[in-house]
Amino acid sequence: MIYLDHAATTEPHEEVIAAMQPSLEDHYCNPSAIYATAEADAVHNARTAVADLLSTSARNIVFTGGGSEADNLALKGAVDAADGQHVVTTTIEHSAVVETANWLGDHGIDVTRVTPGRDGRVDPADVAAAIQPDTAVVSVMHANNETGVIQPLEAIGEITDEHDVVFHSDTVQSAGKIPIDVDALGLDLASLSAHKFYGPKGVGALYVRDGIELEPIIHGGGQERGLRSGTENVPGIVGMGKAAELAVEDLAERRERLAELRDELVATLQTETDATLVGHPDRRLPGYAMMGFPELSGADLVQAFADRDIAVSSGSACHSNDRSPSRVLMEMGIDTNLAFGAVRFSLGRNTAREDIQYVKDQLGHVLEEARR
Ligand SMILES: Cc1ncc(COP(=O)(O)O)c(C=O)c1O
Repeated sequence: MIYLDHAATTEPHEEVIAAMQPSLEDHYCNPSAIYATAEADAVHNARTAVADLLSTSARNIVFTGGGSEADNLALKGAVDAADGQHVVTTTIEHSAVVETANWLGDHGIDVTRVTPGRDGRVDPADVAAAIQPDTAVVSVMHANNETGVIQPLEAIGEITDEHDVVFHSDTVQSAGKIPIDVDALGLDLASLSAHKFYGPKGVGALYVRDGIELEPIIHGGGQERGLRSGTENVPGIVGMGKAAELAVEDLAERRERLAELRDELVATLQTETDATLVGHPDRRLPGYAMMGFPELSGADLVQAFADRDIAVSSGSACHSNDRSPSRVLMEMGIDTNLAFGAVRFSLGRNTAREDIQYVKDQLGHVLEEARR
């Protein structure tokens, strides 16, 4: 299969699997135990590697059970700690943030949702205008999981800093794909998920800047500085650490190569079909392209690609069976016709030029099948 759905998940790196093996077989002790030095060291090393991915320190990393949990902890934790009454977010967040904000809304918190422009980027001025004296947290994702479009976090970070408001970003899609420096972006909280950068599923992290107050959402034994109780998922954490280390190593080379292959694919789709690239042409993750095929159904296209052994997606993986146009594209003001026929191509570290060539060769058949 030609796998072009790396935004949904990635294949665990072979070195990640190898690194996890000892903590599944030999180093199974509870890392809180006094004798469990190997396990505690393994968790510490992983924390350092994940911190490197965000250009920060190990003490600022809290391991979680994935990206969704990190988003929940960031938003609910910040609101609870500040006794805040208001949250600012956007209409194009992943459902992990959307639904958390909705839950907060159901529990009496006022939520302002900023809408992006047609290029998929929110205007920092709109975020500034939405901030109120009782705003507890501003949450704007770094890169969108459907379009790959990157948000102007640095400018938003300056605004939240001026207003002294906690700034959270869901960096689940961007981490390991483009450099992230939490200080340069002005972030106070940032969510990560290992399975988006060749690590295992079910493990993630939240970056928490020194001095930021958070209330935990999971209570118990007080692990992770009291912010995430529960015996640490040592194999998952070790895998995440290895994946972070590997991502930092080849990030620059991978970024350039995947951007080039993506551009080649987009150019072919634009010349040989009537598909349009959705979202900002340059401010996007390398390897990501959301294409709108007018008069066609994204779901039918995804099926036609799958019939040719090509895995792509018609939007966020959670909604792959949903035949309605993507919420994100509708919020961007993309024509329904184009949004309905949207297909996401997301390339990854093992994507080769031959894979892209194969997709190009199959295009005619795929379109013919999707038109039936
Ligand atoms: C932007 C974004 N945030 C959060 C998540 C949720 O991460 P996880 O699957 O680790 O819960 C995803 C996964 O699809 C995502 O793309």
